[in-house]
Amino acid sequence: MKKLWIIAAVAVSVVACGRGNDSKSHSTDAKPQSMVEETAATTDEATEETTEEQTAEATETAEETGESGEEIYKRMCAACHQPDGKGLAGTFPPLAGSDYLMADKERAIKLVKNGLEGEITVNGEKYTGTMPPQALSNEEIAKVLTYVYTHFNDAEGVTVEEVNKVLGE
Ligand code: HEC
Repeated sequence: MKKLWIIAAVAVSVVACGRGNDSKSHSTDAKPQSMVEETAATTDEATEETTEEQTAEATETAEETGESGEEIYKRMCAACHQPDGKGLAGTFPPLAGSDYLMADKERAIKLVKNGLEGEITVNGEKYTGTMPPQALSNEEIAKVLTYVYTHFNDAEGVTVEEVNKVLGE
């Protein structure tokens, strides 16, 4: 009922103005419904994308925080080279204070990946054993060698970039 009164009032005022030059009062400037819905849909999509990105990032971080260098050493190397890195005389060469290890970092990276056999001399002692290839990622090789270089020797660690350079990514 109220609406009718308003329409009547407008009609009256138009008539009252005589020439009907206040067309402004007839314009409808309400936003079309379809536009409102579209805006809502865009906002929804944006929210979904952000959530997906965040999930992907979280997964990556979980993969990166794997075992520490020490844990990898204990699992993969300690059985032969011993937990203290001193090896077993005549069978497994030492990593602690090893001149062979310190002489060539690139060679060390390669032998962890590919294994090693044939005669080598470590700290003046000859070894003729076989070290099997180690199933480790480049990142794990960097971590375990960093442990060996810094914990058993007073040397700098190995970065994953260095390992990538030697072995390829
Ligand atoms: C199954 C026993 C075995 C395992 C496991 C093993 N090694 Fe070896 N490693 C050897 C033997 C044997 C040699 C000597 C090979 C030769 O005589 O040619 C050697 C040699 C080495 C050398 C060079 C010599 C030296 O003492 O500096 C390094 C460095 C080394 N291993 C590091 C590692 C690391 C790091 C791991 C773990 C990721 C590992 N090895 C796991 C048996 C093993």
